[in-house]
Amino acid sequence: MKHPKKKILFIMGTRPEAIKLIPVVKEFRKRSGEFDARICITAQHREMLDNVFQNFSIKPDFDLDLMRPGQTLAELTAEGLKKLNLVLEAFAPDLIFVQGDTTTAFFGALAGYYRKIKIAHVEAGLRSGDKYSPFPEEVNRILIDHMGDYYFAPTKSAKHNLEKEGIRNDVWVVGNTGIDALALTLDAVRKREKTWFGECFGAVDFSKRIALVTCHRRESFGKPLKNICEALKEIAAEFKDVEIVYPVHLNPNVRGPVTKILKKSANIHLLKPLPYQCFVWLLSKAYIVLTDSGGIQEEAPYLGKPVLVMRDVTERVEGVKLHTTKIVGTNRGRIVRAAEKLLTSEKTREGMAKPATPYGDGRASRRIVCIIRRKLP
Ligand code: UD1
Ligand code: UDP
Repeated sequence: MKHPKKKILFIMGTRPEAIKLIPVVKEFRKRSGEFDARICITAQHREMLDNVFQNFSIKPDFDLDLMRPGQTLAELTAEGLKKLNLVLEAFAPDLIFVQGDTTTAFFGALAGYYRKIKIAHVEAGLRSGDKYSPFPEEVNRILIDHMGDYYFAPTKSAKHNLEKEGIRNDVWVVGNTGIDALALTLDAVRKREKTWFGECFGAVDFSKRIALVTCHRRESFGKPLKNICEALKEIAAEFKDVEIVYPVHLNPNVRGPVTKILKKSANIHLLKPLPYQCFVWLLSKAYIVLTDSGGIQEEAPYLGKPVLVMRDVTERVEGVKLHTTKIVGTNRGRIVRAAEKLLTSEKTREGMAKPATPYGDGRASRRIVCIIRRKLP
């Protein structure tokens, strides 16, 4: 007798979760005779998430429409848990997938656990060792990993972190699916000219060196973010031959101070969040990268771009070990000095600009599908 199709629900809420899970969904959908793979978006993010779906020409099956201005983590979690429970009841999946460490990933795993549905965690095992940095992601990912069933660790050190917490079964090192998305997208955009992307880049002069900046972490709100902005202003004033290109996150706690402090600097370009393809193209043109983003710390070494991480700790330790990434914290002077070094010493920059693939080879999604086919026969 023919086996019924296995039902899989992919739960995602923010930009990076969509970027990192859509390649996995696409891989499962190649086997539509075996799997019924559906997507539930929580819409913790709205425009920034919808944009990724447009980029990958794919549509969600369920939309919880959760984003509200200024809502607390508790409100988001409570409302999400209630609404997601209804979807789980209606669709009754055999397996759910969550990715990373967002609030969506946390309540997604919790909703599945309450219904005793198997949970697969993509990007399992990342740890900074500090429960307030990144906040609330460090605790989210610990809790998810202790509720889960199948663990897709991006690197050996992530697997090792799980082992240290007693999670030893059904853990596989597959690489980061974000690199799958990047490899796919690079093929499509690498040879494009600026004009192909329309108005995305405003007045950026690409004949100059590009310093790409992003910043959005909650633990940086307030003084640290102000320090970061002051540092960027100083770098812009010192290096007129450098264009600082900063697609600003839509979070009002970020947009407000960033716009106030940086809007008058002529060589700082504050852009809207970029569609993923535009962002990948921009990254490929960057001379240096300053960021607090997890995903960008993974993508930049793949393209041989030196990264200064504007955080006190990182869970992406592989880049630091390979010297493609340097942690500079949120102290204004430290950020400026590190950027000065990269912008004035070709030798320093070249030392960090070696293409490296510590986070994956672009085949993580295929590995995940092979493993799940064995586990859910
Ligand atoms: C969230 C995740 C973080 C992840 C980041 C990726 C949590 C707690 N945080 O942070 O782990 O690294 O996404 O970007 O899960 N907003 C919009 N439109 C959008 C997106 C956001 O207006 O498309 C505004 C809204 O006012 C929203 C606010 O940004 O309330 C904050 O969004 P939220 O998802 O709570 O947190 P992020 O800081 O984006
Ligand atoms: N990204 C994007 N547009 C932007 C900035 C980032 O598409 O304007 C992509 C980037 O390539 C990476 C992901 O968004 O894949 C990172 O998301 P973010 O920094 O918001 O979250 P984190 O990775 O820190 O959780």
